[in-house]
Amino acid sequence: MLATALDTLLDRTVVPGYSRLGYLARSATWSGPRADPAPGALAGRVALVTGGGGGLGLATVTGLARLGATVHLVVRDEGRGAAARDRVEAAVPGADLHLTRCDVADLDDVRRAADVLAAARPDLLVHNAGVLPPARTVTPQGHELCLATHVLGPHLLTRRLAGALRERGGRVLWISSGGMYAQRLRADEPVPYDGTTAYARTKRMQVVLSGLWARELDSHAVHPGWADTPGLAESLPAFGRLLGPVLRTAEQGADTAVWLAAAPAAVAGTGRFWHDRRPRPEHYVPWTRETPADRDALWARVEALTS
Ligand SMILES: NC(=O)c1ccc[n+]([C@@H]2O[C@H](COP(=O)([O-])OP(=O)(O)OC[C@H]3O[C@@H](n4cnc5c(N)ncnc54)[C@H](OP(=O)(O)O)[C@@H]3O)[C@@H](O)[C@H]2O)c1
Repeated sequence: MLATALDTLLDRTVVPGYSRLGYLARSATWSGPRADPAPGALAGRVALVTGGGGGLGLATVTGLARLGATVHLVVRDEGRGAAARDRVEAAVPGADLHLTRCDVADLDDVRRAADVLAAARPDLLVHNAGVLPPARTVTPQGHELCLATHVLGPHLLTRRLAGALRERGGRVLWISSGGMYAQRLRADEPVPYDGTTAYARTKRMQVVLSGLWARELDSHAVHPGWADTPGLAESLPAFGRLLGPVLRTAEQGADTAVWLAAAPAAVAGTGRFWHDRRPRPEHYVPWTRETPADRDALWARVEALTS
């Protein structure tokens, strides 16, 4: 009871909760359904991790491999991907690792790679790849980069792998961000363009989309808190310097995704938004709440843009 109250307090106070301090305070209380998965919990399972070549993705790959999963690193740069695979192999001797090239922001590339990935018969798909661009960037199909990387590519990949995932009772995880709490679901881009706002809006879309996918699949969104990764250091250098000493490690940031990968359905449920091994509210203020019509409009839009 006290542990639950402390956990909720950490969640509402953001800075301590999202930092390493929140992780350390909460993880000291994890037991029962929130305990660490048993060794070998993912033996025989196949996981796909987009952006698995660095930051939280690499930590997720390592955590899943440690639990015995076969893991496919889905990366846009094969050189960086191979170097990451070598690091995981060194950390987890005997790990069964595979590399698939895919730029998730390029819808043609997603269509190509999806055929390869479906053949792997996945049980788990982790939409981890993420970007916070300094300036407005468009993809080969003309989409804004955050929208393509966080929403359109993952939606299309999920659509193409849905049959394979359903066959195996598979699960989908969308790595969103606590930054989405500041944004309501909306389709327009910030004008003038601002990468942080575009990022947060598409991270809100991920949470809504995950909930919509939960009508068909076991789908969850997760936010990692604030973790020390190459992406954070590059995109938010001042933030990284300010919070450096209390940032989570990448392993701590990836913890809930790895735990959720192994959590039984009775614990995980479906369609939830997770942080530090507990479901969290999707809104803290009333003005970010979307309507069912807003959700339907998002679904129709992403279906149209990825068909
Ligand atoms: N770190 C945090 O505190 C934090 C907080 C909230 C949410 N998140 C979320 O967690 C996820 C991982 O973030 P991170 O901090 O680990 O970032 P990171 O260090 O920048 O790593 C992101 C990974 O995504 C890959 N990627 C980016 N665009 C891609 C694309 N189009 N196709 C395939 N791969 C692509 C990158 O590959 P390259 O090596 O090729 O660039 C990199 O491996 C993101 O979704 C992010 O929004 C992170």
